[in-house]
Amino acid sequence: MEVVIVPDARAGGELIAAAIASLVRRKRDALLGVATGSTPLPVYEALAAKVRAGAVDVSRVRVCQLDEYVGLPAGHPESYRATVLRQVVEPLGLPADQFMGPDGSAEDVQAACEAYDKALAGAGGVDLQLLGIGTDGHIGFNEPCSSLASRTRIKTLTEQTRADNARFFGDDIEQVPQHVITQGIGTILNARHLVLLATGEGKADAVAAAVEGPVAALVPASALQLHPHATVVVDEAAASGL
Ligand code: GLP
Repeated sequence: MEVVIVPDARAGGELIAAAIASLVRRKRDALLGVATGSTPLPVYEALAAKVRAGAVDVSRVRVCQLDEYVGLPAGHPESYRATVLRQVVEPLGLPADQFMGPDGSAEDVQAACEAYDKALAGAGGVDLQLLGIGTDGHIGFNEPCSSLASRTRIKTLTEQTRADNARFFGDDIEQVPQHVITQGIGTILNARHLVLLATGEGKADAVAAAVEGPVAALVPASALQLHPHATVVVDEAAASGL
């Protein structure tokens, strides 16, 4: 695992956007796995700026989701589908058929999970998966104690994650769905390159446990230690526990 300490979130965004641009120059139709939350926003902004400046042609890039809430009404602005469309797909000018994600409103959620896991493999696998980290060490929505071999499946969120995400739902934890679909840890580990970005002091403990602690289901992000090509990009504050 490679750990890169950058001065601030903006520098982290620039660094990762440069890595994505370099991948896309090598492989025009790369499959880019994206994450939601506040942390990756500087990556998307830096990448969109490169596209506007003509520094990289992303017109054939394909984008896929990491996870999704279950049961939000179709088109809900905080569904991860709507979020990724707004933050990544539209700013990059990509057509909708170059974007894939799990169906959080499917009647048979388990079937939707299996279909998405298969679709990722069928699309040739994820070339670069961008990850954030939860304050409890989760990646995607793989909460502590998720199997390190897990595939895409339905999960129940912890109270801590629902509280962390309440800010996207008018600070009302009751509005945060209880269930989610997430790529499993085993699914995530199938990506060719994992890039985890963490910024701010609130992530320092989770980063230290993931990078320097034992590989353990209790800290899902520690599974990155098992991957042959994992990069952890942290600002000074998130690196403060290392
Ligand atoms: C959610 C997402 C994760 C993300 C995490 C941290 O739980 N499912 O993919 O890493 O939030 O979000 P933030 O970057 O806003 O702290």
